Amino acid sequence: MPVTVVIGSQWGDEGKGKIVDLLSEDLDVVARYQGGANAGHTICWDDQEFVLHLVPSGIFHDNTTCVIGNGVVIDPVAVMDEIKTIQDLGYDVEGRLLISHNAHLIMPYHKAVEQARERLRDADAIGTTGRGIGPAYMDKFARTGIRMVDLLDRDTLRAKLTHAIEAKNNLLRSVYGAEELNVDAIVDEYVEFDRLVDPYVTDTTQYLNRALAEGKHVLAEGAQGSLLDVDFGTYPYVTSSHPTVGGCCTGLGVPPTEINRVIGIVKAYSTRVGNGPFPTELDDEAGERLRSVGHEFGATTGRPRRCGWLDLVALRYTAQVNGFTDIAVTKLDVLTGMDELKVATTYRYNGKESARFPSETQTLEKVEPQYETLHGWTADLRQATSFEELPTNAQDYLTFVQDFLGVRISLVSMGPKRTQTITVPPADAPVVA
Ligand code: IMP
Repeated sequence: MPVTVVIGSQWGDEGKGKIVDLLSEDLDVVARYQGGANAGHTICWDDQEFVLHLVPSGIFHDNTTCVIGNGVVIDPVAVMDEIKTIQDLGYDVEGRLLISHNAHLIMPYHKAVEQARERLRDADAIGTTGRGIGPAYMDKFARTGIRMVDLLDRDTLRAKLTHAIEAKNNLLRSVYGAEELNVDAIVDEYVEFDRLVDPYVTDTTQYLNRALAEGKHVLAEGAQGSLLDVDFGTYPYVTSSHPTVGGCCTGLGVPPTEINRVIGIVKAYSTRVGNGPFPTELDDEAGERLRSVGHEFGATTGRPRRCGWLDLVALRYTAQVNGFTDIAVTKLDVLTGMDELKVATTYRYNGKESARFPSETQTLEKVEPQYETLHGWTADLRQATSFEELPTNAQDYLTFVQDFLGVRISLVSMGPKRTQTITVPPADAPVVA
């Protein structure tokens, strides 16, 4: 059985958690392939709401095995806290959560270095989540990182950690003028993790490839969004990993030939947290309305998200880079009650109109989006159980998006609950022009 990949198509916060949770019902394995506790995947069921930062969104389905792959950077404190909270809710985690022995660790010095660096950059700060993601990936690629497997061997960990903290203290003191960290306190705290993480750490690449050979269906869950990809996003205002489809192969060790479905998650409008260019951003009442109705506040940091119209120029680019086979449109209900809806279809730059998404920041900051205006609707979408039951103007909005991207809409989500979702069977999907 093959691999389905779920990918954010914008700047993250598209509602991937709900879609992965829904799809996991019929799946054997859900595997997270990149990022770290910078992600916040919100899942709602009955009257409960839960935000997952590291553990894959399939954990609330008893028959699903969840994998945190080698491409993820893991804060051991954060992952153990999350496991405990899930257990307190009454779910078994041991035996159902597997963590790659090759995944790199986020340590307190990564957060300290990140905070010091962001302070120093001031106006040029990236506006990170402060979870130490960038510095942890820097150590990984500098080949000085500490991995999950190192936590299981106290002597190795003590030696590696002492060396790493001393090096980082040097940096904190001499480059950033920041306070140094206490080597002994950190070493003493982290050697204790061997017992705690031992039941979860394993060779997840072997596990996943065996599962595929046995005919199991794997869902690979991306975090953040394609426009935050370190190569394809709005660099340098990006995260330090690959949320795009290639990250699935390198972050899990599954071959690309096993991937047969790539679902792009498209929020019905755009949002962005942190700094960086955002062509369709709204600094007016409409933007304020999207933020309040859509509860657009960061699930990890609580920061208000910047809001704007749907950007089809950007989406066509991320559909191309990822090869989306189908898309799931989320939060369509947030648009209910707006008289008219705009969608950007081209950019004007230097007096010329262009369909290209310039991911280079210096150009993207200067483009003027050109909009098509579509009609809004007032009827409550949450009652609809099929595409045909949606108000005509909502159907037209979705059809416009689908035709423009040339990618089939397979799911529409109109609220946080599992039930507030329409599955669009291929035969019923609006016809792509
Ligand atoms: P970092 O991933 O913490 O290094 O942050 C880099 C950029 O990615 C910042 O603009 C963050 O706001 C953004 N970012 C990181 N994780 C998420 C996420 O899960 N949703 C939305 N934005 C994110």
